[in-house]
Amino acid sequence: RTKIVELYRRSEELGGQAVTVAGWTKSVRDMKNFGFVTLNDGSCFKDLQVVMNREALANYDEISHLSGYNALVCTGTLKLTPDAQQPFELTAQTITVEGTCAADYPLQKKRATVEFLRTQQHLRPRTNLFRAVFRIRSVAAAAIHSFFQERDFVYVNTPLITTSDCEGAGEMFRVTTLDPKNPPLVSAEAAEKSGGALTAGDVDWSQDFFGKHASLTVSGQLNAENFAMAFGDVYTFGPTFRAENSNTTRHAAEFWMIEPEMAFADLNDYMDNAEAMLKYVLTTVMEKCPDELAMLNKFVDKGLLDRLHHVATSDFARVSYTEAVKILEKAVADGHKFDYPVSWGIDLQTEHERFLTEEHFKRPTFVTDYPAQIKAFYMRMNDDGKTVAAADCLVPGIGEIIGGSQREERLDVLERRIHELGMNPEQYKYYLDLRRYGSCKHAGYGLGFERLVMYLTGVGNIRDVLPHPRTVGNADF
Ligand code: 4AD
Ligand code: MG
Repeated sequence: RTKIVELYRRSEELGGQAVTVAGWTKSVRDMKNFGFVTLNDGSCFKDLQVVMNREALANYDEISHLSGYNALVCTGTLKLTPDAQQPFELTAQTITVEGTCAADYPLQKKRATVEFLRTQQHLRPRTNLFRAVFRIRSVAAAAIHSFFQERDFVYVNTPLITTSDCEGAGEMFRVTTLDPKNPPLVSAEAAEKSGGALTAGDVDWSQDFFGKHASLTVSGQLNAENFAMAFGDVYTFGPTFRAENSNTTRHAAEFWMIEPEMAFADLNDYMDNAEAMLKYVLTTVMEKCPDELAMLNKFVDKGLLDRLHHVATSDFARVSYTEAVKILEKAVADGHKFDYPVSWGIDLQTEHERFLTEEHFKRPTFVTDYPAQIKAFYMRMNDDGKTVAAADCLVPGIGEIIGGSQREERLDVLERRIHELGMNPEQYKYYLDLRRYGSCKHAGYGLGFERLVMYLTGVGNIRDVLPHPRTVGNADF
């Protein structure tokens, strides 16, 4: 069996030879004495045209009556057709039907809406749109690994179950057990009394991980910092969870994050690394997915290719939060309307982020040095005592795709912060230890992988870049 991508790669060599290709029908056309099957096997965006002759193909009638999505194995001769639109076609000798398609196949209609396709999560990977998006997602993931591996970063897997809330926002999903032999119990008597049939009232939901309270992680950062203090440069790439009840086009309850952490690095080192990484991923995707991008550029976002080229070759803007607020205040004075009022100290809203990156700077923008009160406890306090060495990367069309900072490496300052915020120092004792034993300046960031894929594809909703999105009200299949 040869994959279609191989036929394109080695067409010169395979021309005139017998090959077998297995895939699914995109269309079947019957012209009476001959017919065409457009076949795709998922190995590349391009299809294979299979030509059938009534005379030569024993089951011509069976094949030419197929409709919908049928699984076929086709054997024939690869004929080079340099003057036609496709560089080759397969002249079929035998076609075996492995699976036919029931008449109620939901994707009969061309150009189904993305909203309809969200109700068909199990079938939507078969459409051109999702074939393009998920190949780009895969190529981008591999490019991220290459970028960090080429720079000698160590890939660390951080735990998904944890007791610490890295971002301190309380947006954690509790982990619990349904095992009646190992219940998250209030007392032994309750277990005894229930006879194995526990009710919610018998259970202490705050002690449900073998007698401890535990949650799904919102970020692997704190664990990545441990490893950075041993390996220097590290990165994580894994799922994270947020119990944010926000039903937006860019929030999911389960999403993937890339979190590099670099020892002996400051805020500028983080921004330089992040900018180089994003350009590397963009360039790799443009190189490896031209057909996918061409389709997306035509049907999803007409400015996509121009934008990717532009971003890959120009510098990102960098502006302090204080400057950014002045820019927004000036926009308000000039008559621009925001839903949410602007003043120093506010957490920038998506509308503000988008104004900065789309209207003002017109390119990806790092906003730096945010007020300490709106950022997480681990960010390094600046000398002004009011702002922290944080930076978010904002991009046109989306807003924030990266959040990061230089970390507070001074034990006394960090202890004071934890105390001020009313956090439990016991819970962060390992993290504080890192400041006791060989602490050093370090910085890191978190790139939301789905937001990057949205940026790379022009797709406007996070539900359409996740293979099986977990958003508010959606966890089936
Ligand atoms: O800004 P956040 O919350 O930063 C952190 O979690 C840090 N601990 C990262 C670090 O420094 N190692 O999240 C980082 C990024 C955001 O910029 C956004 O792209 C993405 O994660 N993100 C989400 N993506 C999808 N759905 C959500 N609910 C998201 N929340 C954050
Ligand atoms: Mg953030």
